[in-house]
Amino acid sequence: MARLNPSQHAHLTQLGIAFYADDERLRAYGHDETEDLVFPPELVLIPTSVEEISRVLTYCQAEGIAVTPAGARTGLSGGCLPIHGGVLVSMEKFNRILHIDTDNLQVTTEPGVITEVLQQAVKEHGLFYPPDPASKGSCFIGGNVSENSGGPKAVKYGVTKDYVLNLEVVLPTGEIIWTGANVLKNATGYNLTQLMVGSEGTLGIITKIVLKLLPHPTHDVLFLVPFYNAKVACAAVPAIFKAGIIPSGMEFMERDALLWAKAFTGDETVPVADTHQAHLLIELDGFDADQLMRESEQLFAVLETFETDEILFAETAAQKGALWNLRRKVGEAVKTQSVYKEEDTVVPRFQLPNLLEAVKSIGKRYGFTSVCYGHAGDGNLHVNIIRGELTDAQWEQELPKAITEIFKEVVRLGGTLSGEHGIGYVQRPYMHLAFPEVTLNLMRAIKTVFDPKGILNPGKIF
Ligand code: LAC
Ligand code: ZN
Repeated sequence: MARLNPSQHAHLTQLGIAFYADDERLRAYGHDETEDLVFPPELVLIPTSVEEISRVLTYCQAEGIAVTPAGARTGLSGGCLPIHGGVLVSMEKFNRILHIDTDNLQVTTEPGVITEVLQQAVKEHGLFYPPDPASKGSCFIGGNVSENSGGPKAVKYGVTKDYVLNLEVVLPTGEIIWTGANVLKNATGYNLTQLMVGSEGTLGIITKIVLKLLPHPTHDVLFLVPFYNAKVACAAVPAIFKAGIIPSGMEFMERDALLWAKAFTGDETVPVADTHQAHLLIELDGFDADQLMRESEQLFAVLETFETDEILFAETAAQKGALWNLRRKVGEAVKTQSVYKEEDTVVPRFQLPNLLEAVKSIGKRYGFTSVCYGHAGDGNLHVNIIRGELTDAQWEQELPKAITEIFKEVVRLGGTLSGEHGIGYVQRPYMHLAFPEVTLNLMRAIKTVFDPKGILNPGKIF
């Protein structure tokens, strides 16, 4: 797409909307948490109302200017990177929780509210918004909706899509719509609400979100289980579900993932023996302490059938917090260790040992090491490929071939490219591995209906 010309630039800065146009800020808004990618926009607009966004889109549609919506820019697939320059619309001022409806167990919020802030606000009413991405302390709820984020609780409670009831959206044409209704059941026409969820800011800009809430569980228990063999840890996962237990967290960490997180956080409380190849972090929650004890015993009975070392039981809230902090910091810890690429593979849960083995054997053939961790209960493995000593040629030319092999194996195992990080910019070259052309064409046609001139977040997904 063409660069902004001086008159377009002048027009957009004279709409009465706050903006940044200095190089330093443009650069800052040009990256998210995806690898080391930076694509500065030509202008950052910071609107405060739906009408302002509508005006921006109406003008940009008429002029053919690229518009990229952005939240907290914590994404891991480059979904909010303005790869074609143009205007970045930052949703940071849409930061109000509008209504906590304790009669219907719903919340209406603007998209720029930090997910954890929203969770705390509803918790004060005894209510629960479960989806909890690792970045919950900094990511925006609007970004979670746009990427259909998951997190550890997804294994019991589902991902963002399972909570979104209705959305106010500004279409690329500038028109403002609501996608559905504030109801728990809705069989009224095509499901535009769910079409928007996970559409990565390519179909419209979300300005209000209505979410379903649950009663907040009152009790939880947390265990860290060391395994001598990483594949055995993966194999224990489906066995736990088959025994009738649905944990509220079922996280896998390879040895290095935990060691790096310990180094990154300065943790001295969690012992990792030389023989520990992987850990499962398992949480159970509910409303009744006795019931949780019974479930814990059931869990131990299953784990006894696998080779584990002594299970660490987090007794205090501080210990639980420390264990969860270690798990949540793995991603950041990897970042500080090396240049890396992260794949967000997902397979049916039972195939997890096969996926792990395939990643390691492809790594051996191509000469890279990987650190794997993630949401084992969902079959969602974050594969971090470590650059280490790889040459430019290995990293740039050979690695995409290795990633292609990993994704082919993922698909062969019945899985797909991304469980929760989205396709965005970085996984785009691999979409044809997940879908045939006929399916991709349907998606492209949907994009055209919403955005005939292709101005909104161009260059993503396809
Ligand atoms: C996590 C992020 C990377 O699970 O999804 O830590
Ligand atoms: Zn994750």
